[in-house]
Amino acid sequence: MKNDKFVASTNNEREKVIIYNNGRKVKRKLKSYEIDMGERGIYNTKNKLNDLTGKEWTFFTNSVHITDFANNEEEFKLWKYLQESVIETKYPTNGANSFGHNLRKLHPSPKPPQLMRDIIAFFTKSGGWILDPFMGVGGTLLGASLLENRNAIGIELEQKYIEIYNRVCEQEGIKKQIAICEDARNILTMEQVKDKVFDLILTDPPYANMLSKQRTGGDRRDKGSFTQDKRDLGNLSYEQFLPELREVMEKSTSLLKNKGYLVIFCKDMQPTKKHHNMLHVDIVNEISKIPNIYFKGYKIWYDKTINLYPYGYPYSYVSNQLHQFILIFRKER
Ligand SMILES: C[S@@+](CC[C@H](N)C(=O)[O-])C[C@H]1O[C@@H](n2cnc3c(N)ncnc32)[C@H](O)[C@@H]1O
Repeated sequence: MKNDKFVASTNNEREKVIIYNNGRKVKRKLKSYEIDMGERGIYNTKNKLNDLTGKEWTFFTNSVHITDFANNEEEFKLWKYLQESVIETKYPTNGANSFGHNLRKLHPSPKPPQLMRDIIAFFTKSGGWILDPFMGVGGTLLGASLLENRNAIGIELEQKYIEIYNRVCEQEGIKKQIAICEDARNILTMEQVKDKVFDLILTDPPYANMLSKQRTGGDRRDKGSFTQDKRDLGNLSYEQFLPELREVMEKSTSLLKNKGYLVIFCKDMQPTKKHHNMLHVDIVNEISKIPNIYFKGYKIWYDKTINLYPYGYPYSYVSNQLHQFILIFRKER
């Protein structure tokens, strides 16, 4: 892009309203080194990397970029149905279809029950049992109750999250599943769990402290510890976390039926010079050490309710990670 384009679309407004694709509006005064580029946003003259405005820069840093080169609507629908490896969602955060998000948002990273429902629907049949050793405010348990005839057990260290889950069930008239307040490490001694055989383990482990300490430019909403408890896996360092997670997963998968699936959510951290921080790779390596548990692939969940932020702008590329990995393992004896 040539510089004369900047001049042509520059006007003299010193206050600017930027409207992002998701409707978010930001109003602010222009700095002396900024040029108003009309609908394109604001160009920062300190930008040594490219000719993009902050709005365009931020759009590019989205970790998921879905393109559509279909010839027509029908072809697009067919492609989406046949080829989509990305689960793209924008679930409501208020009203009846939010399934108690008004309460669940008191947790730093609740999962949408509808997403968990769809995963459970794929990996279990009617009558199936599902285990979530890190249940939080119960995304998995709620998802199980949104389907016909599924049973779930959740384990959570923090009583207040279980109370929130119970209140959500009461508010929304959703069937309550079994929620146990305990350390997931003790799973094999829990009366309600130890003799069960599960069809699916679906979980979203705590990565809290690792994320808040080591990551910049991540999703701001899921920073911060889940609990102050020393037993909280989220309060461990990256190196300590991986074997501890494996231990809980090894105990949990000892209760999984043969040919049953273990599904784990995971979000990567920003890379550092020391380590790539692709947590999903390290988790696959670690969980693959468990005898009889084999990695089968992943799906990507693209959460469109997360805002893009201009990380790194206008100096260097920093990814806006709007996707999470849904890692899929199978028990094969
Ligand atoms: C990422 S959150 C799960 C969120 C959940 N998917 C939801 O929809 O609410 C992980 C949870 O694991 C809990 N946790 C951490 N360490 C634990 C442990 N040792 N035993 C049981 N729960 C633990 C944390 O308190 C946190 O609520």
